[in-house]
Amino acid sequence: MSEKIYAVPEAWRNEARVNAEKYDALYRRSVADPDGFWGEQAQRIEWIAPFTRVKEVSFDTHNVAIEWFGDGSTNIAMNCIDRHLPHRADQVAIIWEGDDPSLSRHITYRELHEQVCRFANVLKAHGVRKGDRVTIYLPMIPEAAYAMLACARIGAVHSVVFGGFSPDALAGRIEDAQSDVVITADEGVRGGRKSPLKDNVDAALEKVSAKTVIVVTRTGAKVDMKPGRDFRYEDEAKKVPEDCPYAEVGAEDPLFILYTSGSTGKPKGVLHTTGGYLVHAALTHELVFDYREGDVYWCTADVGWVTGHSYIVYGPLANGATTLMFEGVPNYPTVSRFWEVIDKHKVDIFYTAPTAIRALMGAGEEPVKKTSRKSIRLLGSVGEPINPEAWEWYHRVVGEGRCPIVDTWWQTETGGILIAPLPGATALKPGSATKPFFGVQPEIVDANGNVLEGACEGNLVIADSWPGQARTVFGDHERFVQTYFTAYPGKYFTGDGCRRDSDGYYWITGRVDDVINVSGHRLGTAEIESALVAHEKVAEAAVVGFPHAIKGQGIYAYVTLMGGVEASERLRKELVDFVRKEISAIASPDVIQFAPGLPKTRSGKIMRRILRKIAENEFGALGDTSTLADPSVVEDLIKNRPAG
Ligand code: WT7
Repeated sequence: MSEKIYAVPEAWRNEARVNAEKYDALYRRSVADPDGFWGEQAQRIEWIAPFTRVKEVSFDTHNVAIEWFGDGSTNIAMNCIDRHLPHRADQVAIIWEGDDPSLSRHITYRELHEQVCRFANVLKAHGVRKGDRVTIYLPMIPEAAYAMLACARIGAVHSVVFGGFSPDALAGRIEDAQSDVVITADEGVRGGRKSPLKDNVDAALEKVSAKTVIVVTRTGAKVDMKPGRDFRYEDEAKKVPEDCPYAEVGAEDPLFILYTSGSTGKPKGVLHTTGGYLVHAALTHELVFDYREGDVYWCTADVGWVTGHSYIVYGPLANGATTLMFEGVPNYPTVSRFWEVIDKHKVDIFYTAPTAIRALMGAGEEPVKKTSRKSIRLLGSVGEPINPEAWEWYHRVVGEGRCPIVDTWWQTETGGILIAPLPGATALKPGSATKPFFGVQPEIVDANGNVLEGACEGNLVIADSWPGQARTVFGDHERFVQTYFTAYPGKYFTGDGCRRDSDGYYWITGRVDDVINVSGHRLGTAEIESALVAHEKVAEAAVVGFPHAIKGQGIYAYVTLMGGVEASERLRKELVDFVRKEISAIASPDVIQFAPGLPKTRSGKIMRRILRKIAENEFGALGDTSTLADPSVVEDLIKNRPAG
């Protein structure tokens, strides 16, 4: 572990909104008096009906209920757009940078208002009402933000599905959300390659049904249009009025569903609501990134993930920021692309993922150094633990040693950042997400639920609610309770392991459940296993994560074939493609080991601990193997472990 400490630079300390003393005092107040603290912070957004109650929360396993600002009402699109019009109608709200470096667009708040109103009217014309679910399967184009905000404007609930997901994965999400309307594009474009989004929707809708598909034109490719079901967005937009009044939405009315993987079963539809979510996203965006009036802010995530929801769209726009939306990838056309975009648009704040940093680090310093990056003031990291080497490189090479790095820990379920430095207040330690944000009470517990004190390591739980917290799993509150509130009753269980050092800094050590984090993408081992066993030649499969130099974790699959089926290189490729088709390219196994049997206890439980060790190449550390039903299985696995 890195022991290096980077003190807050003097200029930052002097100009800090929140310095170290203020952080300590405010933090103490925020946990001692959450109603007082959050009641004040909530004034940063505009309410339609003011709230009189702040926090009403029960983490009791028998009755998990989470409400913030429960009797207030507002509208998120109004907060992200209309509220800014009197003083920043001509300010750029969204800079869109296309995959092709010669394409970019600037959308002002006035234009954003018009576009979102039109989109909202198109949805209304197609029967979308308050509370209805709308599936958004779009590439990184401004229409993705318009569509999200259009839903928010009329009180509909969006479910954004990452454009990299397969037709099957999309179908499952449309069905679970009971969504009648799907918004897509003809094609997506990333890294110079096209992806057939509309065709994928067609394939998904052979399995599940939706009444309406709205197709945005991105490339102009010819796509099948099913009469009565499929509509061109551009045609529909011409038929509707330019203005659309915003709906009054209860603070606890749903804003969006976002599917995320867990240890078991199918991805869960994590549900976020309105008032608390926006307060949390906007406040963290301002304080963690030290967002200042006039800054150009760039988060490189995709809107298909929660990072894109909270820190491309809602947080920045609620703060009246200029947010950059990037269609492409870090290495196209060259590995200098990120830095060139920073120079092109004079980006002040840059937020990306460790996997991208590690991949670019592999290309050396020259592609970075040939760009200026003078505009950059602050760097952020999210999605997985950042190893100190990558942190140091990001700091020294990208930030030229002058930009603080905010390593932000949070989750789809947390809605916004929970543990991160405040750049004017917190000394940095490479690899540590540092300290809790206001109102956040992390605790480290042992396997028996004892709360550990001082320097320690264990599982990370959060002792009390925060406004951006997910409220339920869509359609399955019991699963919400089971997943997050039963392991450590009365506390929210994050699924992460964590160490706290003697300075009170938090170091996330990674997932402790059967979730793996591949390039910052969260996947359930169970999901990949069920994709594998769906293949006719596979009898049994067990999937574990293993350390991967660029992706953070890679996917290691142990596969037992049906009797009589011969293992071969061809079958290996076939299985990788099969998983890709069932879920997504991000779920493709890096290693498949064919095995005659899997290590099991006498009661038939697969011993994953052993499989993890073999995948990590740590044969000496297999631990207790005395409960194995058949020890020879393990010997075979070790003997036949593929090289690498
Ligand atoms: C999991 C949540 C946060 C939005 C993107 C991912 C891991 C996330 C960090 C970080 C160490 C991190 C955790 C967490 N994670 N950020 N800064 N340091 N680990 O959201 O897909 O819901 O994944 O990502 O393991 O539980 P997500």
